[in-house]
Amino acid sequence: MNSKPYFDEIAQQWDTLRQSFFSDNVRTKAFAVAGLTNNADNTALSAADLGAGTSFITEGLVNQGVRVIAVDQSEEMLRAMQRKFGTSDRVDYRQGNADRLPVDAASVDYAFANMYLHHVESPADAIGEMARILKHGGRLVITDLDEHHFEFLRTEQHDRWMGFKREDVQAWFEQAGLRDVAVDCVGENCCASSACGCQQASVSIFVASGQKV
Ligand SMILES: C[S@@+](CC[C@H](N)C(=O)[O-])C[C@H]1O[C@@H](n2cnc3c(N)ncnc32)[C@H](O)[C@@H]1O
Repeated sequence: MNSKPYFDEIAQQWDTLRQSFFSDNVRTKAFAVAGLTNNADNTALSAADLGAGTSFITEGLVNQGVRVIAVDQSEEMLRAMQRKFGTSDRVDYRQGNADRLPVDAASVDYAFANMYLHHVESPADAIGEMARILKHGGRLVITDLDEHHFEFLRTEQHDRWMGFKREDVQAWFEQAGLRDVAVDCVGENCCASSACGCQQASVSIFVASGQKV
């Protein structure tokens, strides 16, 4: 199942759709777990935003002074993002895939992935790839869906995985060689309606983090 045509098609509407699914609190929680603070000088820091979409995470990082490599399979998503940031020297746009990220090994201080993991073919391998690009001491923070039973998210929104068990996510982080692994609640649900309007999904969101030693 290839979700790229779907994301290419909805790129122009993604910001509006996303705001209906979850709030900016998800990003705030991800940054808090990463230990990123607004009042520090972050200009020497670098991060990768995987499955970056139209910049939900990237925009927050840029606002905090962090340099970002934004990776997505969808050129249309990246184009929409580029329209926001233009040729900013703080954002490097790279088209690429989860199975081989177009980012050098041990090159970034942080890797973030919001609502990306449930689209990739192999979550364990994707986490291994994200760990590969982290510098030693760098942190991976993933925000995604807990396990759920809303089939329409698969058929209508091209989700590949029906969320995840937190113990599986924890094990994949550990298999990737990350330490101080924690999987916690964001404290917010992702909400969506089916096309017929007859089903409403409300799925809790987890935040998983770990550090490369
Ligand atoms: C649900 S959207 C989330 C976008 C963004 N992170 C946000 O929070 O708004 C998932 C994004 O992941 C990208 N994506 C899905 N599978 C991918 C893969 N295998 N490799 C790279 N990007 C992928 C999609 O193109 C899409 O932009």
